[in-house]
Amino acid sequence: MPEEKSFHMTPDEFRRHGHAVVDWIADYQSRIESFPVLSQVKPGDIRASLPASPPAKGEPFDALMRDVEKLILPGVTHWQSPNFFAYFPCNASGPGILGDLLSSGLGVQGMLWSTSPACTELETHVLDWLVSMLGLPEKFLSSKTGGGVIQDTASSAALCALLAGRERATQYTSNKKGCDGRIVAYASTQTHSSLEKAAMIAGIGVENLRLIEVDQNFAMRPEALARQIETDKLAGLTPCFVCATVGTTSSNAMDPVKQIGEICRQHNLWLHVDAAMSGTAALCPEFRHFHNGVELADSYNFNPHKWMFTNFDCNCFWVADRKALIQTLSILPEYLRNQATESGAVIDYRDWHIQLGRRFRSLKLWFVIRHYGVEGLQHHIRQHVKLAQQFAEWVRKDARFELAAPAPLNLVCFRHKSGDTANQTIMDRLNRSGDLFLTHTKLNGKLTLRLSVGQTHTQARHVERAWERIREEAEKTGDAVRAHHP
Ligand SMILES: Cc1ncc(COP(=O)(O)O)c(C=O)c1O
Repeated sequence: MPEEKSFHMTPDEFRRHGHAVVDWIADYQSRIESFPVLSQVKPGDIRASLPASPPAKGEPFDALMRDVEKLILPGVTHWQSPNFFAYFPCNASGPGILGDLLSSGLGVQGMLWSTSPACTELETHVLDWLVSMLGLPEKFLSSKTGGGVIQDTASSAALCALLAGRERATQYTSNKKGCDGRIVAYASTQTHSSLEKAAMIAGIGVENLRLIEVDQNFAMRPEALARQIETDKLAGLTPCFVCATVGTTSSNAMDPVKQIGEICRQHNLWLHVDAAMSGTAALCPEFRHFHNGVELADSYNFNPHKWMFTNFDCNCFWVADRKALIQTLSILPEYLRNQATESGAVIDYRDWHIQLGRRFRSLKLWFVIRHYGVEGLQHHIRQHVKLAQQFAEWVRKDARFELAAPAPLNLVCFRHKSGDTANQTIMDRLNRSGDLFLTHTKLNGKLTLRLSVGQTHTQARHVERAWERIREEAEKTGDAVRAHHP
């Protein structure tokens, strides 16, 4: 029989091109500080540089890599630059990248235990490790009533938690009959917008997501929460769920989880704790106090893809009562039936999230934890917090600037005292310069700059340089303001 025609990459070709790609990534890491952090292209630039039609014939791999360098790189914002201080970090690391590559190489789809037992069991195991690494309550362990699962994002985790809370509060009838418009949930005015989206998707409705007021530190006021729950109950509504945040996106505010948890206990409401970025800090015992009260939570999540050096996407989500989650999300069509599932001896993670299919994400998390060890992770987290605190101190000491919120960990919210226009100008100039990337928020109606320290490779010299550049631009902005108002 003649050889069948094939267009596939052979293992030898894969080896050669694979080495070239790994070399390219290593070189990229070495020269990353030479690129403008924020991509400087204009809308449509990248598409205009790409051929209008797909290739009829396959192209050599070298040509692909040349185009990555020439056409794609200019349109990349360098999240992995140590001068990236925007939003919250979205970290990659050597072990994270290699774990992800292995996951792609194995190409496993782990929807059921039986579709790749290692995919399920490694995940359960690593999430149990993290319970002790973060000092979370034992009820989240798979050996107790709970267990952990890797979701794509904190948004999906919030949606799953809200659905489970909704089902528990309606005795598992709203999945069958739909929502009646009387189910209410609670978050603060500072809670991440993913909760609003979750309320839309869960059929609760945005108007039935009560946004509770916050105190001067942007943390939820528990007494306002208690009042709103009483009001809703008196109106014949069905409260079901509260989201408390450990480290809000806007200003890193810490909701008082314990007081919120006690209110939830009193009214039998599902408490979800969203620690998307700041949860990583709990690796260090000295920062665990932000978690006080988490023992009252029904679910908890944090994103190793933010601050724990694990490539996007990787959200760790735990529940205290896995039965409630599974009862909410489980559907078993005939074509997925199998002996392992029927035996009840295994976890089928498709029942723990929205989608059916799932990647082998725990490999990269396992690699990260094993490469750094708890000691290595703690070292870098402490370093980032120290650098942010140093930056906050510089801001405090400079009469032209002020802190706009407490800086409990690695996010500093600050502003130039000249007002919104000056702050906008400083930020725009810095970002256009490519030297660093900062983003903003609004606190008490005022435009506020955010410096988020957490990129894998950020060191003292990067934060020092950022402060130098901020002061330079402030100087120029001050000059411009003085020229207009002499
Ligand atoms: C506190 C908080 N919750 C949720 C999210 C949403 O994260 P994800 O992109 O994983 O959905 C963020 C993102 O920054 C966040 O800061």
